[in-house]
Amino acid sequence: MIRIAIDGPGGAGKSSVAKSVAKKLGIPYMDTGALYRTVGLFMKNAGVDTSDEDGVAARLPDVRLDLTFEDGKQKILLGGTDVGDRIRTQEISMAASDVSKIPAVRAFLLNTQKEFAAKNSVIMDGRDIGTVIIPDAEVKIFLTAKPEARAMRRFTELKERGIETTYEKVLAEMNERDLQDSTRAIAPCVPAEDSILLDNSDLTQEETIGAVLKIVKKVQKARKKRGSAFYMFFRYLLGPFVRFFCNIRVHGKENIPREGGCLICSNHIGIRDVLAIAAVFPRQVRFIAKKEWFQIPGFRLLIKGLGAISLDRTGNDVDALKNAVATAKGGAPIVIFPQGHRYPAVPPTETPIKNGAGLIAYRAKVPVVPICLCPKDFKYGFMKRLDLYVGKPILYSEFGFEKGGFSEYKAATEKIFSEICELGGCGSYPRSDANDPAKEKSE
Ligand code: DC
Repeated sequence: MIRIAIDGPGGAGKSSVAKSVAKKLGIPYMDTGALYRTVGLFMKNAGVDTSDEDGVAARLPDVRLDLTFEDGKQKILLGGTDVGDRIRTQEISMAASDVSKIPAVRAFLLNTQKEFAAKNSVIMDGRDIGTVIIPDAEVKIFLTAKPEARAMRRFTELKERGIETTYEKVLAEMNERDLQDSTRAIAPCVPAEDSILLDNSDLTQEETIGAVLKIVKKVQKARKKRGSAFYMFFRYLLGPFVRFFCNIRVHGKENIPREGGCLICSNHIGIRDVLAIAAVFPRQVRFIAKKEWFQIPGFRLLIKGLGAISLDRTGNDVDALKNAVATAKGGAPIVIFPQGHRYPAVPPTETPIKNGAGLIAYRAKVPVVPICLCPKDFKYGFMKRLDLYVGKPILYSEFGFEKGGFSEYKAATEKIFSEICELGGCGSYPRSDANDPAKEKSE
């Protein structure tokens, strides 16, 4: 599955580029601006002043909007009739910009967009796709161009459609709409912090399509990469031995993501956790390991070669965090133990946890895969059976992140750890019949 978000101001050529890329990749294209235009059209037809927030909100329940796809081509029906080109006039452009500022209108159109993106590969264009609709999109592009270049394109397009206007008028309207769209309080048209900026002022449409496809192909390639040759050599050589001698039984194998970045979170019993997880994941997994391991001569070379990420546990290791986030975003699985320490012979519900997993989940916006390692009594032994449970990946949208921050990271880590504990049949975390173990430990 690949979800591509293309945001940017009007006239940057988003829709023609997105349409063409969608065709080349064989995925549907959703033009979200058309949804706002349709609401604008309805209000205009109903004689509602589009800048009157209450007036527009009051008529929203009457808007019967249906979005369908035929051969990947989007069609919008308003009250059962195809809106066609009626939404493409300058008047409706401005009406769409007006209504898109209104929170009730955005809320009205939110689910249609989000639900589609949750279930399908899609390329969507708009203003808030990468920031609000699909914050965890695999590809985010902010497509823009100088206002003069955009106005000239729009002017030519309108002229070709026989619509009488002047370049100056189009430029003035475009500037007004840009200002309104980018400065509004709700979902302003601004690039997502992790989007790729593409300025196509000096590019032809074909060149822009080529540039977008190049970005998409690069992401797809990174998502499919299995790992470095050095790691895969060890993986294939030692994996069967580890699985045999650790007597591993894997449950939920189907939950292991076959491609793309993810954050694997597991309970931590002993060093063998690392081998067990690496042995059951078919791709290279990058462990976040305490920096002390990197200080052992020889071993340092080995774990560096295997792609481990060094973490200084004494303070806030910003570099380790950035490295982990970039690695996951780049399409690789990373592993973190939310407990931070090993706890042999202790059920995970009885231990404190740290908040790093929640923080990485928020920043990297990749699915989180919970794992519970369960040897008998949480103690490893030679040839002693190890049950390894892989849970369903938790999607970014399931965390309900808003603005980030300590309490959100804590809640997210608790959610992840709770899933881990439940997978191993230990109950939820923190246990409802116990004091918060994290608190107990720190007191
Ligand atoms: O992309 P467009 O010109 O068809 O968009 C029409 C208007 O709709 C635009 O002025 C801003 C608004 N819009 C929005 O607020 N959010 C989106 N995702 C898409 C469009």
